[in-house]
Amino acid sequence: MPERSVLRYGNPLLHQVSAELSDFSPARLDPLLDDLWATMEARGGIGIAAPQIGEFVRVVVFGLEHSERYPEAPAIPRTVLINPVIEPLDEARVSGWEGCLSVPGMRGLVSRHARIRYRGLDHRGAPFAREVDGFHARVVQHECDHLDGILYPMRIEDLTQFGFEDELMRAERYG
Ligand code: NI
Repeated sequence: MPERSVLRYGNPLLHQVSAELSDFSPARLDPLLDDLWATMEARGGIGIAAPQIGEFVRVVVFGLEHSERYPEAPAIPRTVLINPVIEPLDEARVSGWEGCLSVPGMRGLVSRHARIRYRGLDHRGAPFAREVDGFHARVVQHECDHLDGILYPMRIEDLTQFGFEDELMRAERYG
């Protein structure tokens, strides 16, 4: 399971809109999923989207048992989500700090839908759906944004709420 390099913010490829996946053959999908999990885990992430490793298809993976980067975060089941669709369940929004493997060392405060229903296909092409809230809902919205070329800094409403992780922690604004 080779770790891949991660495109960093500033690389225009990250703003591409990725294509729906249509080839669910193991020969196509298994190496991609292996690389996504390996890259995410090597960097201590809790989610990663295919375009972050230069594969412009609508595939994300995420999951969290315990994270050094997010020690307070509740567990999220290990999930492969392909061709996702997200619907907010109501109007409620909530702000939370986010980071991204494509924006290393930084965090920003981002408003997201508090409760969502998401659906998509699993690694075999089987449809599934979930209703989630809290951190799980935030992670799904963050990862799926990558498929439309959107990174979290583009969603920060107040850029004073954005900065280097160590500075934010030193100032006790985060962590
Ligand atoms: Ni990200």
